[in-house]
Amino acid sequence: MESLSIRGGIPLHGEVTISGAKNAVLPIMAATLLTSEPCVIRRVPDLSDVKFMGQILASLGAQVKFEGSILTVRAEKIKGVGDYELIRKMRGSICILGPLLARLHKAKVSLPGGCVIGSRPIDLHLKGLKALGVKLSISNGYVIATAPRLVGGDLFLGGRAGPTVLGTANVLMAAVLAEGVTIIESAACEPEVVDLAGFLNAMGAKIIGAGSPTITITGVRELHGVDYEVIPDRIEAATFAIAAAATDGEITLLGSRPDHMHAVLDKLREAGVKVERHGPALTVRRGSRLKPVDITTLPYAGFPTDVQAQMMVLMALTPGISIITERIFEARFMHVSELARLGADIAIEGPSAIVKGGKPLSGAPVMASDLRASAALVIAGLIAKGTTLVKRIYHLDRGYENIDAKLRQLGARIERVEES
Ligand code: EPZ
Repeated sequence: MESLSIRGGIPLHGEVTISGAKNAVLPIMAATLLTSEPCVIRRVPDLSDVKFMGQILASLGAQVKFEGSILTVRAEKIKGVGDYELIRKMRGSICILGPLLARLHKAKVSLPGGCVIGSRPIDLHLKGLKALGVKLSISNGYVIATAPRLVGGDLFLGGRAGPTVLGTANVLMAAVLAEGVTIIESAACEPEVVDLAGFLNAMGAKIIGAGSPTITITGVRELHGVDYEVIPDRIEAATFAIAAAATDGEITLLGSRPDHMHAVLDKLREAGVKVERHGPALTVRRGSRLKPVDITTLPYAGFPTDVQAQMMVLMALTPGISIITERIFEARFMHVSELARLGADIAIEGPSAIVKGGKPLSGAPVMASDLRASAALVIAGLIAKGTTLVKRIYHLDRGYENIDAKLRQLGARIERVEES
């Protein structure tokens, strides 16, 4: 396994191009199952999760071809059973359920395992699909689904933590080929859901309201191939913006979508970070003095849970008390104990982390866990005095394209090493 060895203390300077959004590409790749015609997807990031999804589509019988950041998928003849070993490894693969039902009217998909950030149930996915006439059973770790007819219906997809992103994606992809009209209430409003709806409409679907809590889908008979460019990754952009402020450098993010980042940019400005927008580019640098801020993660357009860990590192540097409350996942503080190894002073009180910022960080070996916690440890290593070794960085490669190369380009002293 590989680690990242980071020598801290260098302010990052320069430009970085933001890659395509992982959480847009994964459901969009699943949506290619909805037509037998070829689909071309552009700005596809080189990530292990994306490669996994490609293998899953191929295991279903689709032709999958990666050429740099351009992916072509042709699902001419497909089967409805996903490869357990592949699907088990990546929770995002659950979103093949909706398109398989729409295309084949049957599907057998492994239940996604939990992961380090929480139990990750799919009860809302199944509730939404049942409202469209899907018959479901669970046995031996599989969801067995059949739908002789998919019929549009009205459904409410809100759960204990608000809407579900992939649950909305699954229902959207089943509804586009259902008979009649489907109305999803309490739909997820994330930009990645809007991008999926854009892809589906480009295929000939009839979806209105994506990005709002109410999405209306009028079923059509079939969908055609498409050539589509996905949105840039707002979470990657936020991660680099925080790295600029944390290292007291200045980074210009090229090809970002500031309009997808209002909550993050607002919180950074409140913390004293200077953020200037030039069209699709953002220039970020630390202001004269960082100020502690309180953060609560919420469904979009609130502060994203996927940026919680990274912000915690910035607050660990900031003299004063910051309270970070995680309202989306029940176990998303894996990074706290690792940050403590670097000298951070953070106490967990239920869903909140109390950050007593301003303590100096010093390098040490730390363990990556969930994707975003790993990114937080990298930012911490960029600041900590001495050398930090972030182990098990396969977690990072799931969601960040060439993060060490991009950071080196900005002046970081970071290299990939084989784990001893
Ligand atoms: C997506 O996961 C993202 N992943 C996550 O990003 C992101 O953190 C999450 O949305 C929230 O924004 C992808 O898009 C591939 P949810 P998803 O269903 O759709 C509960 C990353 O780091 N829930 O919106 O799986 C659930 O337990 C990843 O890139 C139910 O109760 O998340 C959670 O508390 C991590 N029942 C909340 O809803 C369900 O049926 C939000 O989950 C489904 C979800």
